[in-house]
Amino acid sequence: MNAPLPTLPQPRPSVTAIEAYVPGKSAATGGAKVHKLSSNETPLGPSPKAVEAFKAAASDMFLYPEGSARVLREAIGRRYGLDPEQILCGNGSDEVLHMLAQVYLGPGDEGLYSQYGFLEYPIVIRAAGATPVVAPEKDYVADVDALLARVTARTKLVYLANPNNPTGTYLPFAEVKRLHAGLPSHVLLVLDAAYAEYVTRNDYAAGIELVATSNNVVMTRTFSKIHGLANLRIGWAYAPSAVIDALNRVRAPFNLNGPGIAAGAAAIADAAHVDAAMAHNSRWMEWLVKELTALGVPTTPSVGNFLLLHFASQGAKSAAAADAYLSARGFILRAVGAYGLPDCLRMTIGSEEANRGVVDALKTFMAGGK
Ligand SMILES: Cc1ncc(COP(=O)(O)O)c(C=O)c1O
Repeated sequence: MNAPLPTLPQPRPSVTAIEAYVPGKSAATGGAKVHKLSSNETPLGPSPKAVEAFKAAASDMFLYPEGSARVLREAIGRRYGLDPEQILCGNGSDEVLHMLAQVYLGPGDEGLYSQYGFLEYPIVIRAAGATPVVAPEKDYVADVDALLARVTARTKLVYLANPNNPTGTYLPFAEVKRLHAGLPSHVLLVLDAAYAEYVTRNDYAAGIELVATSNNVVMTRTFSKIHGLANLRIGWAYAPSAVIDALNRVRAPFNLNGPGIAAGAAAIADAAHVDAAMAHNSRWMEWLVKELTALGVPTTPSVGNFLLLHFASQGAKSAAAADAYLSARGFILRAVGAYGLPDCLRMTIGSEEANRGVVDALKTFMAGGK
C-alpha cells in the first residue's frame, strides 16, 4: 500500500489569490545597446555625493545599521521642515505600503484604490488578508466621487498614487482634500507621492499639509525616482505620531542598510542634482509628447517622469507589436496589460539618446517599416 502523501504547508488563501507583481523588463531581445525605460528610474543616475557617502559607509558593512535610520530621517526633516519623529523609513516605499496594510487591514476589511492605481495596492491589501475594492476612473484620472461611493463600513484604508503610475495623471490638492473630507475619520488615506518631485503644477501638493492637519492621512515618498537610488531601496512616510508608533511595532528592526541611509541623506541634501533631473524631465517630456503626437501615438497628459503611450488595439500597430519592435532595438518600455491597459506602453523619460532613439524607431514602426 502506498504511504499517504504528506500534507504540505499551505499559504493563506488570501496569499494564493495574489497576482504576483511583475517588474518591468531589463533586457532587450536583440544585441542592441539597452535603454531601460521600464521602471521610471532617472537617466541622470544618483548624485555623486550620494555615491561618495555610500562608498564611505561601505567599510562598516559588518555592523548592524542604526535601526531607525535616524540620520536619514533628520536629513528628510531638514529638507522639508518636518519633525523626524513623524518620519518612518522603509526598504523602498513598497515596504511602507506593505506595513500600512499589515497594520490597518485584516480579514473582513476593505482596502480601496483607483482603477489604474499602482499594482502594489491589491497585492498589499490581499497580503494583509483584506479585500481590494476598485473605483473606476474617468479619462485615466482618479475619480473622487467614485472612490467615496465605494466606501463601506468595512473600508479601513484608501491608497491614492498622486501622481499615479502608470497613467501619469494627478489630482489637484483641492480634490485630494475633498476625498479626505468625505472619508470617515477612522479610514486611513495613504497619499503615495513617489513622483511628487517631478510635478510642476501649482494646484498640486504631495500631502504634507494634509498630514500635518489631520489624524488619518499618511504621505509616502521614495528615493527610487528623482534621487536615483532605486537599487538601495529607500522610501519613507510622513504620518501622525500614532501611525508612526503603530508602524514601528511591525517594522523589521534593521529594515534599511547603513550605506543606503548615508547615501539617502546625501542625496536629499543635493538640491542641484534634483533640479537638474527635474529640468531634464520637463524638457524631454514636452519634446516627446510633441513628437509622439505627430507620429500618431497619443499620450496621456503626465506630470511624472514617464508617459503612457496609446497604440491600436490589434494588428501591426498594436502595443504588443510596438513593444517587440522597440525591444529588438534596445528600447525597453513597460507593457501595462496587467493594469488593464493592453493597448498601452509606459515609457520612462530617458536620456536624450534614448528619447530620440524611441522616436526614431517609432517613426519607422508607425510607417509600417521593418
Ligand atoms: C506609485 C508608486 N509608488 C511606490 C513605488 C515604489 O517605489 P519604491 O519601493 O522603489 O520606493 C513605485 C515604484 O514604481 C510607484 O510607481
